[in-house]
Amino acid sequence: MQKQFIVLFFILQTSWSMSAQNYDESMVPSYTLPELLIDTAGNQVQSVAEWENRRGQILSLFEQHMYGRVPDFAYQTSHTTRVLDAADIAENATQEEVTIALENEYGQVQIIILLTLPKNRSGKVPVFLGLNFQGNQATYPNPEITLTSNYVIGGDQLGIQNNKATEESRGARASRWPLDLILSKGYGLATVHCGDIDPDFDDGFKNGVHALLPEAPASDQWGTVAAWAWGLSRVMDYLVYDGRIDGEKVAVIGHSRLGKAALWAGAIDQRFALVISNDSGCGGAALSRRQFGETVEAINDRFPHWFCSNFHQYNQLENQLPVDQHMLMALIAPRAVYVASATEDQWADPKGEYTSLYLAGPVFNLFGFKTLEQDQLPPADTPIGTDRQAYHLRTGKHDLTPYDWQQYLDFADHIGIGR
Ligand code: GCU
Repeated sequence: MQKQFIVLFFILQTSWSMSAQNYDESMVPSYTLPELLIDTAGNQVQSVAEWENRRGQILSLFEQHMYGRVPDFAYQTSHTTRVLDAADIAENATQEEVTIALENEYGQVQIIILLTLPKNRSGKVPVFLGLNFQGNQATYPNPEITLTSNYVIGGDQLGIQNNKATEESRGARASRWPLDLILSKGYGLATVHCGDIDPDFDDGFKNGVHALLPEAPASDQWGTVAAWAWGLSRVMDYLVYDGRIDGEKVAVIGHSRLGKAALWAGAIDQRFALVISNDSGCGGAALSRRQFGETVEAINDRFPHWFCSNFHQYNQLENQLPVDQHMLMALIAPRAVYVASATEDQWADPKGEYTSLYLAGPVFNLFGFKTLEQDQLPPADTPIGTDRQAYHLRTGKHDLTPYDWQQYLDFADHIGIGR
């Protein structure tokens, strides 16, 4: 009886949430986007210098209303390195774990970077940096990689039990991190479990890096996405310090919720030369005002800890947001940005993801770069791009695949990161 009740409840829940979402283009409301190039004093931005001022205004708006700003806090940092044997790639690469410890009177956070660098190139190495969902051990089947002890999302099929990674999780997500391909093109890979920085559940901000502060965040202070972005910058601090790596050629990449974090990290931290959003959707590349697929209300209801609490005021009130995601894309200029979507990932709104990238064009133009020519979503499996903006819509599901990586690597080569 109880089981039947639970099943019925689940069906009702699912059908309720499905009906509350829009997957019909004709139901997209009409909307007016906030002006990218008119500053708060009402002046038209016409030069790079004026844009720098406008950029600061937009950044503050995103901080205050969406991602939350990082509070000032003091901590000490140190790192240790553990070299791994990595027998199966050792001919072509080195692999190590660099543990960054961040510590203050309230606690300690350890961020473990799994760093794999190719041997087949002279000079400093360009690197892709990306957070992973299930722990470093899930990205590559090397038994020496530390099994994460932090909270992980995922189920049995990924070797996760009760949000803990088991030995079965080793290599379970290797398809998302095609190391051989990345190394063969002369790039290194740095990956970190997002749960090292902030475990992905709503605990009132008592764990992860939030625990280094005595109080929970104020309404305009960081949620989990901003904490992940901040963590990416701390990893970047290490990458620019490591003499083997070319700190001017680091691409930050993220899939889905971690794509939201990659975009925000790329917006705030101008050291990232290329920013890659893979299927990041709502709160990432997709325009909020389209209300297609996942909406602001849907994301805040299911993941109340991701954004700052001010963002919850915009549930069903997307039109009142002082920003939209084309402005996030523009914050990355004149550095490069790649956005990708998948045909079966309507929840992430491919059209909204492309449109925001396209609408950021005028800012790239101010810096002398060509803008994307077509305002319509390109056909599937047909990558398009300029020297600073690129996009593809892959056939298939919400995922990060070798096809996606192939396009990112080609684009990185194209813009000269691989040289
Ligand atoms: C959910 C969530 C998305 C998110 C995705 C993911 O689907 O609604 O916003 O991008 O999870 O991270 O896989």
